[in-house]
Amino acid sequence: MFKSTNDCGQLTIKDIGKEVMLSGWVSSWRDHGGVIFIDLRDIAGITQIVFGQDKSSISEDNSSGLIESAHALRNEYVISVKGIVAKRPEGTINDRINTGKIEVRVKELEVLNKSKELPYDLKNLEEVSEELRLKYRYLEMRTGKLKDNLIFKHRLYQLTRNFFTDKKFYEIETPVLTRSTPEGARDFLVPSRLNPGSFYALPQSPQLFKQTLMIGGFMRYFQITKCFRDEDLRQDRQPEFTQLDMEMSFIDEKDLMELLEKYIVRIFGELLGIDIKTPFLTLPYDEAMLKYGTDKPDLRIPVKIKDITGIAASCSFNVFKKAAETGAVRGIKISGADGFSRSRIDTLTGELKEYGAKGLAWIKITEDGYNSQIVKFFEEDSLDEISEIFNASPGDIIFFVADSEDIVCKSLDYLRRKLGKKEEGDFKLLWITDYPLFDKDKETGRYKALHHPFTAPAKSDVKILETSPGKVRARAYDMVLNGSEIGGGSIRIHSSKLQQKVFDILGIAPADARKKFGFLLDALEYGAPPHGGFAFGLDRLVTMMRNLKSIREVIPFPKTQKAYSPLTEAPSTVDLKQLEELGLKVDIPEDKL
Ligand code: AMO
Ligand code: AMP
Repeated sequence: MFKSTNDCGQLTIKDIGKEVMLSGWVSSWRDHGGVIFIDLRDIAGITQIVFGQDKSSISEDNSSGLIESAHALRNEYVISVKGIVAKRPEGTINDRINTGKIEVRVKELEVLNKSKELPYDLKNLEEVSEELRLKYRYLEMRTGKLKDNLIFKHRLYQLTRNFFTDKKFYEIETPVLTRSTPEGARDFLVPSRLNPGSFYALPQSPQLFKQTLMIGGFMRYFQITKCFRDEDLRQDRQPEFTQLDMEMSFIDEKDLMELLEKYIVRIFGELLGIDIKTPFLTLPYDEAMLKYGTDKPDLRIPVKIKDITGIAASCSFNVFKKAAETGAVRGIKISGADGFSRSRIDTLTGELKEYGAKGLAWIKITEDGYNSQIVKFFEEDSLDEISEIFNASPGDIIFFVADSEDIVCKSLDYLRRKLGKKEEGDFKLLWITDYPLFDKDKETGRYKALHHPFTAPAKSDVKILETSPGKVRARAYDMVLNGSEIGGGSIRIHSSKLQQKVFDILGIAPADARKKFGFLLDALEYGAPPHGGFAFGLDRLVTMMRNLKSIREVIPFPKTQKAYSPLTEAPSTVDLKQLEELGLKVDIPEDKL
């Protein structure tokens, strides 16, 4: 093998005349009447290498042998060449790549390895099933988008480490074999051989440990770390994903939010050349739900939800009247009503059933007035008032959903995303604050922590913690980018007494709390500083920054929707002996025996 003098993305016209050595993969192969052109590829780029162009510098014998060997090359063969950098002939210059003005005229070739014919064409990935792509993930990595995404992630990690180190944070590892952490998903369990019948849980986040580090006096911690959650997968979820986790002592939410905004400004500036303006918009949770129907609004869509519950209360349409008493009546305006035929509206109405909506009312604004089945239920004044609320003009259509607050929010969030026009290419960041501390479980009627149970209640709400838990606000904040929750955090409870009170409300008895989080509860009694923190979902952040559809595009070896890896074929069955050692008896489905 020749020792490479350059990588395949490096040589330019400045290098013309130099003898160089390159190694890489054959990316494409063309025979132009005895002269063979190959695109030689490595991680850094592509260089055109040519066989048979410049026979004068090669001995007669060697020349024919060389051409023969070049003829035998195929795509993805691994080769090493020695040759002379030359200017490409006019008409063959490629301005899209760094090395597009030169080629290397080969004098010697060494074939380092062959490749089987690929299972699919790397240049037509769109046509390949995801299962097959994931099975041969290493092939896809050699080219294109996946390679760029992983390199982008690498650069983000380096920037992240520098940023937080400059701000006096310490990077500290926390255990992977640990106990359950309550982040709302199911745990992945690992049986312990040395303690039969006992299990470790893989961390859903380092939450308990980072709080313990604050009590350990570290004051500023960060970590880029894997988290594990056994939940149903979607485009933006994986069972193992990477968090940028951080925690700080002696701060409040303003300090944290300012610091995290600076981080975002830095990474967008350096990685995308985009100037992000601060401070970000901050929306209290209630306002976000009212205006957008969700706590992760995509602000690239300017459409806002408007409330007409007051007007609906005095109309004669029974559905609206009833909803106005017990829930809400809200709507969105979409311009360009001409496109909305009855059948299209019927389809939308059908789609909304998934969110529980029982119907979709509408009013079209025309030059001649209001056109709708429901106009007859309203006084003319009320219709004008509605039109004014929505700032509607001829050509617009207003859609309404009347139902419980929850169904109205979910339905209009869906409609807004489905029908609202998006400003593509923009990055809209915002904070959502003032979350409720608790959420009531509809089935059990019990309170659950909306974030996790270590989140501090708003100072002014501590007094109503026991009397009206449902009204207590949390000192929690999420960061949202283009409709995706890219991170979340909170100021924590640092008093063991208050922590126990919150556990009481959550129905976690002292003995239970001790069993689950005993070490943190103990630690809280030994001088815990006020502290708070945050975690970014780094895979989601990169997916959004690079405008990609799925989180799988930024993860080197992701799992499918069924949490399966076509590459490793994990999860898999194990030997009975292994189970015995672990003291486990498993009902193995027959087809797996
Ligand atoms: P949270 O549970 O909100 O907070 O997680 C933080 C961020 O992690 C990302 N995320 C995921 N990404 C991919 N796949 C998943 N399955 C997945 N689940 C979550 C999201 C989310 O915003 N310990 C707290 C943070 C804190 O309070 O400091 C926590 O884990 O982008
Ligand atoms: P109906 O009187 O049931 O024919 O309904 C008249 C219009 O109101 C139709 O467009 C229905 O889709 C719509 N509608 C019915 N129920 C609701 C609801 N809960 N919210 C909004 N619109 C509704």
